Amino acid sequence: MSNIFDSHAHYTSPRFDADRAAVLAALPQQGVVGVLCCGTDMQDSKHAIKLAEQYDYIFAAAGTHPHEAKHGIDGLRELLQHPKCVAAGEMGLDYHYDFSPRDVQQAVFTAQLELARELDKPVVIHCREAFADSLRILRDFAPLRGVMHCFTGSVEFMREVLPLGLHIGLGGAVTFKNARKPLEVAAAVPLERLLLETDAPYMAPVPHRGKRCDSTHIAAIAEKIAAVRGMAAQDLLDACADNARGLFLCTP
Ligand code: NI
Repeated sequence: MSNIFDSHAHYTSPRFDADRAAVLAALPQQGVVGVLCCGTDMQDSKHAIKLAEQYDYIFAAAGTHPHEAKHGIDGLRELLQHPKCVAAGEMGLDYHYDFSPRDVQQAVFTAQLELARELDKPVVIHCREAFADSLRILRDFAPLRGVMHCFTGSVEFMREVLPLGLHIGLGGAVTFKNARKPLEVAAAVPLERLLLETDAPYMAPVPHRGKRCDSTHIAAIAEKIAAVRGMAAQDLLDACADNARGLFLCTP
């Protein structure tokens, strides 16, 4: 398969330390045309930008993940002004792990949304078990440009998110056993609002589950989603790559 645009990956992860250069050099030969490498704190965001400087097909998002919210966003404005930093994130709320206090998560999420609006950057949002608070905060910033990544909500929640202007990011979870909700979302989401992602090195799809994930695994995700939508996997990859380019690179 070709025209793979992975809208969410973490190639800065220590799990790529041993062979990162080899993995990243090989991806374009395996059909990968774009990767958004998402930072999780300021240090990690700098690393993502460095990778984007080294590889034409890699673009960076800079932000503070809710897990790291207590470490703040000092220096984010400068990072977001880098020419290959095309989005702000990942940012959001995670009440599953609660690694940062919820009031701090909300304050840091809001501060990043304000900065993204000021600098006119699309946003990459992480939302886990925090649907009501996320919607409340996001509504203050609508209309938004961005993606709710690794979407875990119901079709009903999706119908709350789409009017805000956000895209829906789907990844390996659609291939998991018991993937009822993600597959319902995969079938119902308007094609022009769908992005494909791996969240590499996490969330490897079946049949790679448990292994280290990389962007080539999008093929398995695309096949599953294309099947429930009754379309060819390559057509889905093409449409989602166009969506990612339009959102992050502002090209048709
Ligand atoms: Ni992520």
